[in-house]
Amino acid sequence: MRSGRAAMLPKSSVKNDSMTSIVMLMVSLFACSYIAGRLWQDAEIRSQLIAIDPRISRQARDPISVDESLRLIQCKEQQKKLADTELELAAAKSQGYKPINKTLFQDHKLVVIGIFTSFSGQSRRASSRKSWIPNGPALKELESNKGIIIRYVIGRSSNRGDILDRQIDQENKETDDFLILENYVESDDNLTLKSKTFFSKVVNTWNADFYVKMDDNVGLSIDMVGSMLSSHLDKPRVYVGCMKSGTVVNDPNAQWYEPDWWKFGDEKSEYHRHAAGQVYGLSRSLAQYISINSAYLKEYKNEDVAVGAWMLSLDTVHIDDRHLCCAPNTVRIMLSGGVCWLQ
Ligand SMILES: *[C@@H]1O[C@H](CO)[C@@H](O)[C@H](O)[C@H]1NC(C)=O
Ligand SMILES: *[C@@H]1O[C@H](CO)[C@@H](O)[C@H](O)[C@H]1NC(C)=O
Repeated sequence: MRSGRAAMLPKSSVKNDSMTSIVMLMVSLFACSYIAGRLWQDAEIRSQLIAIDPRISRQARDPISVDESLRLIQCKEQQKKLADTELELAAAKSQGYKPINKTLFQDHKLVVIGIFTSFSGQSRRASSRKSWIPNGPALKELESNKGIIIRYVIGRSSNRGDILDRQIDQENKETDDFLILENYVESDDNLTLKSKTFFSKVVNTWNADFYVKMDDNVGLSIDMVGSMLSSHLDKPRVYVGCMKSGTVVNDPNAQWYEPDWWKFGDEKSEYHRHAAGQVYGLSRSLAQYISINSAYLKEYKNEDVAVGAWMLSLDTVHIDDRHLCCAPNTVRIMLSGGVCWLQ
């Protein structure tokens, strides 16, 4: 299972290789400068000998200088490789790659559930804290006993440090259940970017088998989600949710208008199958894929369509779990065994 997962992180292993190659290149460069030093010494001695007896020049020069040039060429190549590898590593870092944190990897969790909330979500948060999210020590117990981490996910105000930010900081001081995305500016119009930022952040913060994104107006039965996800542990790249399709929104006046609608096909096309954004989960390797490639993943207007599009190009197991379907515009209805409700 572990090795299977490691095999699915191509970029990450490339970067581990990069680290190893940097170390190896450094060693060989050191060897190169040592050889260069020795060659220089030899050259000194040779020129002194030539000064004494010019015949030495003809005898000794050619074979040594070929050898010398070859080695110098080799050194130059190594230097270039080192510079290239360093560039590659810098590029990887700028795209969100972080070296593996060993401590983090020893502390293994089942799932991190991120509840996307907004500055106006205080009453929804209060209500879910009353209904399904454990508070205080119980939240920590859930983490240590069942490996389930739950956090409200929010960015920063566009007026950084203003009353909105301070209110969240204050609430978080009392509840300690926020994951604040410091480099994301909170906006209802940038939810795809929020998801990218979220998956990149959690995958580098907690070592979990799954990462779940959900909205703050739905609730979950934690036990149900725990056992549902555990039942998929044997599958390598899981994308689970309430799978839907739906007509592509090409009306510029509609709320979820997709400016790139024509990419999906002709007018009246359907979106590819994707998990409804209210609650869906990804295996670690898929979240890692988002984290590593986030600079290049297209931000379609609809967050759930965007994530579905990223997943569509990968070899994933799409799991349509109807327990995760919430009927729209319904108040506190519990569906199919009470997994999901709207509030
Ligand atoms: C590694 O993860 C642990 C646990 O989350 C954390 O305390 C520590 O600061 C991290 N180390 C680095 C270098 O990021
Ligand atoms: C969305 O995020 C991008 C990139 O940070 C930013 O340029 C843009 O202004 C944001 N849009 C809104 C509506 O906040």
